[in-house]
Amino acid sequence: MNLILLGPPGAGKGTQAKRLAEKYGLAQISTGDMLRAEVNSGSAIGREAKAIMERGELVPDAIITAMLAQRVSQPDCARGFILDGFPRTVPQAEALDRMLREKGLALDHVIELRVDDAALVERISGRFTCARCGEGYHDRFKRPRTPGVCDVCGGTEFTRRADDKAETVKARLEAYHRQTAPLLPYYAAQGKLRVVDGMAPMDEVARQIEAILAGAGPEAPPPTQT
Ligand code: AP5
Repeated sequence: MNLILLGPPGAGKGTQAKRLAEKYGLAQISTGDMLRAEVNSGSAIGREAKAIMERGELVPDAIITAMLAQRVSQPDCARGFILDGFPRTVPQAEALDRMLREKGLALDHVIELRVDDAALVERISGRFTCARCGEGYHDRFKRPRTPGVCDVCGGTEFTRRADDKAETVKARLEAYHRQTAPLLPYYAAQGKLRVVDGMAPMDEVARQIEAILAGAGPEAPPPTQT
């Protein structure tokens, strides 16, 4: 099974992709995580991407599609994958279509997590991550069971992303509406687009996605105007 999770920054793509990867044994492919790893390693790609990401803009298509092509060829993708944060432009979607065709693969569903812009700012500004194992938390929606201690690994150091500042979030949202939202009609025209209510609590969003994967989900309503 090969899936795309589509949605604006903070919509919950990473949260849901992680759950789905665990439940269905799929590879989670987050181009944002891959880029942050490049930045942390100080590689040539990381040096080019760092300033772009801090401005909340999109990294050039050629860099991203080359990274993605390598990633989907790895053995853990053989059972299927969830794309979280890719594609983000129509040229990226076209490159993905070509890549999948060449490999004899197909996309099963493109799932849009639909969330109001106002809720996104609160979600992103409250987000933090365990520095040791990467588990994600939120000041209001998902606190560690013991304050200051990671539920998963017991780590006590947490980090916040450099691009989660309010002014960068605004630029990221603008980039989403201008460059990524055109993917909604692109995938609707392919009959692949499904929509879930990303405003619902995390467990309910997961339930809606699982219903789609089980074949019981609703057809996509027309994309909203952005
Ligand atoms: P990326 O890392 O992909 O960031 P993003 O798309 O902006 O998405 P986020 O990771 O911020 O949010 P999310 O939807 O995963 O939400 P999450 O689950 O964390 O990209 C970063 C940058 O890299 C881009 O700006 C760009 O520069 C570059 N880049 C990446 N891919 C690229 C590409 N393909 N092309 C070009 N450039 C690229 O949830 C957010 C918070 O909300 C969490 O705290 C969570 O606990 C909470 N939450 C989640 N669901 C719910 C819920 N249902 N109710 C309440 N709270 C919730």
